Amino acid sequence: MMDQRIDESVYAIFQRAARVSVLTGAGISAESGVPTFRSGGQSLVWRGYPFEQLSSVATLARNPTLVWEWFNYRREIISRVEPNAAHRALAQWQDDFEQFTLITQNIDGLHWRAGSRDVIELHGNIWRVVCQACGQRSEYRQVPLQQNPPRCSCTGLLRPDVVLFGEMLPEEAWQRAVEAASACDLFIVVGTSAVVYPAAQLPVIAKQAGAYLLEINPETTPLTPLADTTILGKAAEILPRLSKRKSTH
Ligand code: OAD
Repeated sequence: MMDQRIDESVYAIFQRAARVSVLTGAGISAESGVPTFRSGGQSLVWRGYPFEQLSSVATLARNPTLVWEWFNYRREIISRVEPNAAHRALAQWQDDFEQFTLITQNIDGLHWRAGSRDVIELHGNIWRVVCQACGQRSEYRQVPLQQNPPRCSCTGLLRPDVVLFGEMLPEEAWQRAVEAASACDLFIVVGTSAVVYPAAQLPVIAKQAGAYLLEINPETTPLTPLADTTILGKAAEILPRLSKRKSTH
């Protein structure tokens, strides 16, 4: 039996907080129907490949068609799903605090679709592409792909505009995320296994800077010992109960 109670003290901290930052991971989209990458210590394997191998610069260089097949598979799923109650709760919170920053590791764009206005996307966006020849970035929504790998109007190869294993995070997004983690009273981590760096460093930065660290995840993670509170529950069940507007907890 999981403990899904929201402690009165957590509720009070949420009510009092003025500056709130939130980091989301794949788990927030799980209830929309997007499979996570890891659960119960196991990593996702697709067509016999560990996903870390498919989402890597090394495989992109060797076999872009395979990398695009994997992203095409993810794009097909994401194109069919809807934001859930957790995404919607976060979109509501953006108007409820003096300062609110939403940082995501997700590339699915569901926070935008739920109405969040300013989302720091640490790992890029699956609906954008970048040309490996001319460097042009553009939106690219074709599902399924008609050409693999797809090409730019300059004839260069397009790649998903996402951060692959072996690559750095976009500098500006990372800087903004560090600032938001360093200057908040409450940092909430939702649905991340907290094993991928540097994103997993953000809650540590927040905690060191004096923020209250709240984790929401049905499983414990390497972050759990550092968190002030971990609510062992699903994002779409817990987040809507944390509301500034009405007492529903
Ligand atoms: P993971 O797939 O590693 O972890 C998902 C987490 O969500 C796990 O800790 C689950 O317990 C939790 N979870 C599952 N269902 C949930 C629910 N309904 N509500 C809340 N939590 C739930 O996903 P990330 O931590 O986001 O990077 O993975 C980090 C990065 O690894 C991803 O951004 C991706 C991947 O490689 C790139 O593609 C660059």
